[in-house]
Amino acid sequence: MQNPIIVALDVPTAEAALELAKEVAPAVGAFKIGSELFTAAGPDIVRRIRDTGAAVFLDLKFHDIPNTVAKAVASATRLDVQMLTIHTSGGSEMMRVAEESAQKTALQSGRNAPLVLGVTVLTSMDGSALNEIGSETNVGKQVERLAMLAVNSGLRGLVCSPLEIAGLRQILPEHMQLITPGIRTGAEKADDQKRTLSPREALDAGANWLVIGRPIYSAENPRAAAENILKSIT
Ligand code: C5P
Repeated sequence: MQNPIIVALDVPTAEAALELAKEVAPAVGAFKIGSELFTAAGPDIVRRIRDTGAAVFLDLKFHDIPNTVAKAVASATRLDVQMLTIHTSGGSEMMRVAEESAQKTALQSGRNAPLVLGVTVLTSMDGSALNEIGSETNVGKQVERLAMLAVNSGLRGLVCSPLEIAGLRQILPEHMQLITPGIRTGAEKADDQKRTLSPREALDAGANWLVIGRPIYSAENPRAAAENILKSIT
């Protein structure tokens, strides 16, 4: 089994990210670079993490007109990231060209295409927040609807909350990869995560990858925390 732990490098500087990555690398499968770090440190931090030999999940949640998203995905593919995110609410055409761009650019650059992951409904949104933006349906139905739209647009993976995994596994084709944040071991506080599962529970429910931030980087000993999580799932 590949190591399914993706550590969120939710730190403000390149130096802090590189230090954390170096410390925990032997116990984890990949690193997630999100908007905070990318906006501060730019594409150079992606190259520097890739230069350590680690896989990178670029979590910038692209959402724009199809042409712009396709070009952003091409740029990310040329940076040699292994996973990236787009918003499924950008629509089927946007998703279709994003996946096509990943495949085409990878072929041109002689590498494997990154996994283009669809984000459905942000976990910060509840029913009334959805209603505010004009969606009459409930969160669960909207997640299912966007997940199926992603499948039919050719995406090969989705980001979902821990409590959506089991339901999505019932309706998705088996090949769809599911990546979930909101992982807590029970040894730390839940922070702002309201719906959490343990690493073992999330994998048993059908997740392929676990995005874990604070339980590792806020631990007294991040390397030991990552190793303990790995032990709990192997
Ligand atoms: O520190 P923690 O383990 O909660 O970090 C989870 C990571 O996953 C963060 O980078 C957060 O932005 C991201 N994430 C999330 N919930 C989502 C989508 C992404 O926590 N629904």
